[in-house]
Amino acid sequence: MITSSSLPMRGIASISRFTSARCLLFRPPPPLQWKPYPPSSSRSLLPRNTPLKPSRSLQTEAAPVVVSEEDSFGKKQVISLTPQLYDYVLSNVREPRILRELREETATMSGSQMQVSPDQAQLLAMLVQILGATRCIEVGVFTGYSSLAVALVLPESGYLVACERDAKCLEIAKNYYERAGVSHKVDVKQALAADTLKSLLDKGEDCSYDFAFLDAEKRKYDEYFEYLFRLVRIGGIIVVDNVLWHGKVANPHETNAKTDSIRKFNQKIFMDKRISTSIVPIGDGMTICRKIAET
Ligand SMILES: C[S@@+](CC[C@H](N)C(=O)[O-])C[C@H]1O[C@@H](n2cnc3c(N)ncnc32)[C@H](O)[C@@H]1O
Repeated sequence: MITSSSLPMRGIASISRFTSARCLLFRPPPPLQWKPYPPSSSRSLLPRNTPLKPSRSLQTEAAPVVVSEEDSFGKKQVISLTPQLYDYVLSNVREPRILRELREETATMSGSQMQVSPDQAQLLAMLVQILGATRCIEVGVFTGYSSLAVALVLPESGYLVACERDAKCLEIAKNYYERAGVSHKVDVKQALAADTLKSLLDKGEDCSYDFAFLDAEKRKYDEYFEYLFRLVRIGGIIVVDNVLWHGKVANPHETNAKTDSIRKFNQKIFMDKRISTSIVPIGDGMTICRKIAET
């Protein structure tokens, strides 16, 4: 069992380093808000189409964990985040200063919760680096946090198509691309994303992209995914955000249209033999898909 006294020293040291650096350079961040997830009885460790006994929640000294009631999982404990633990995760994120400034500016705007979290952005950037990606697409730019994280790690010859319909958001994003010195890598397309993706396909850009990030209208995920699937090469990656939808996807009492469409999308991805896939419970849940076959 993990207790606070068994935390590695490196972690404790990096929390205080992070905190003092933050105090010197920036105003302290607002306290994290913790929204409880649906009851543990609605959680499952396997996709919904597999019958499972319910999981249960255990309170440990350090953080609550979930244990499946299914015998085949043994006593495997899956950790749940607490505000304290999430603070610890954030204190270990290497967030470039320009991204931090963009995050802080966006935090003052309405809709700031739409921005990916620093730990998510770090994962996106790492995937791009692991892939050695040079051609990327993002659907849903908002003020540019995730696209800037990607552009920062692209090589000088790298290219990111940034799809966003909102001109005001794009003004902020473009300002930060400029300040970060990555504008030459970002091709901003201010239009409905479906139109932009169709036009890329019309230009014959099928199978020419390495990486795509999907983070716009939830009810159109399926349509966007199919465009992105055609645009990405075999071996390329498509990451989809908000697949856990504030935990609502696992709550049978949640039947609104957005939740239902994300559930359907998740189910489709689970069954899709053209890709390998993994749901990562980071931020609001991100699915990483790797294209392994055209059909
Ligand atoms: C969740 S936010 C994206 C957040 C962004 N990835 C980030 O980390 O800051 C979704 C964005 O998608 C944009 N959007 C929604 N529907 C769109 C569409 N049909 N075409 C283009 N952009 C769209 C919205 O204007 C919004 O800025």
